[in-house]
Amino acid sequence: MRTCARWWGRGGSPLRSSGILLLLVPPFLLALQLLVVGPLLPRASRVGEGAVAFSVISIEPERNSRQRGSPSRRPGLEQELGPRTLALQRWAADKPSFMAELNRIITYITKPQLNCSRVLSPGQAQATQPPADSPHWLLCAEDWLLPLEDRPCVAYSFSMDGGDAEFLKTVSLLGCEVHSFDPSNSNASGGHLGNSLASNHGDGGVVSQHKMWLEWRVPRKRKNKTRGNLGSVSQTLADVMAALGHHTVHFLYADLLSAEWRVFQNWIESGTLQSVHHLVATVHLQWAGFEVGGTNEEVLRYWFSVLQGLQASGLKLVHSSAGEGHSVLKQTVANAHSSYTLSWVNTRY
Ligand SMILES: *[C@@H]1O[C@H](CO)[C@@H](O)[C@H](O)[C@H]1NC(C)=O
Ligand SMILES: *[C@@H]1O[C@H](CO)[C@@H](O)[C@H](O)[C@H]1NC(C)=O
Ligand SMILES: *[C@@H]1O[C@H](CO)[C@@H](O)[C@H](O)[C@H]1NC(C)=O
Repeated sequence: MRTCARWWGRGGSPLRSSGILLLLVPPFLLALQLLVVGPLLPRASRVGEGAVAFSVISIEPERNSRQRGSPSRRPGLEQELGPRTLALQRWAADKPSFMAELNRIITYITKPQLNCSRVLSPGQAQATQPPADSPHWLLCAEDWLLPLEDRPCVAYSFSMDGGDAEFLKTVSLLGCEVHSFDPSNSNASGGHLGNSLASNHGDGGVVSQHKMWLEWRVPRKRKNKTRGNLGSVSQTLADVMAALGHHTVHFLYADLLSAEWRVFQNWIESGTLQSVHHLVATVHLQWAGFEVGGTNEEVLRYWFSVLQGLQASGLKLVHSSAGEGHSVLKQTVANAHSSYTLSWVNTRY
């Protein structure tokens, strides 16, 4: 928590000018606060224009017409590929039902949508047949889904607990340009904030470390936004890619500690996912996640909608591995786990 407070503390610069006291609270503390006072907030509550929507009911990004019409709204990827809004799925049953929503999402995340005949297992750089035991994650290694040998290969990893060690090993062995993002990493190279996005471009096999984390809010119109010189500790994936000069991330690992739902939503809505080829990510079900609220049924439906959005963006689930525990939204459920590590491949590139 100490490290969290440190990295969140600098995250809110686009909001600084709003003058609304609530917005000055660093997002992490805000999320913490929501955990406590969340149930007391009216549903779909907002804290003001341009503020973050807390409820899953208003998951549509809030834009005002000025921003929408502005040609400078999102340079780079988003503009080329066109933003889309996350579509909220229908209820699983006739009416909101915890078990119906839970069964739908668990069925979805435990059933691979693509059988890969060849895979890369954790720590391995040789494609093999799928192993009999269920590893933590798998990369689909069909020839048509892997980067060509003589072409550059880029891998990003977002992890705070070292759980990505084997992923870093695999992508390094593959000869990728590897970037590791960890806001608690005191070894990160360069930059007065220690969060430099300096690249080790062309230095295959060496991991560049960045003291940085993922932002999920679409940046507001920035004063003189300059690429490659991003001062904040958290950035959207699109901004990180732009700063590092990458059009594609071939392999992406993300354990975002419950921020994944809003981050995924950002990736879907910004079109960034079109640039990600293989994704390994852990989804956490113990609580709603950062800046996600509503009833349990609404949260489950929102999560399912996010997963559907990933699929609509071209991601196919190739592997699912259950984590520890049986707690979903603070309820103990026998047939579900508290987290799942999911491996996807983008079949649309
Ligand atoms: C993958 O293979 C399993 C076992 O052969 C089969 O049950 C499943 O339907 C297949 N899935 C897909 C998406 O083809
Ligand atoms: C930081 O560097 C030290 C010494 O080089 C190393 O032992 C340690 O594992 C590194 N920590 C991280 C988080 O990379
Ligand atoms: C942006 O930069 C330009 C030129 O560098 C400068 O004239 C202008 O005042 C800047 N705008 C803001 C809002 O800082």
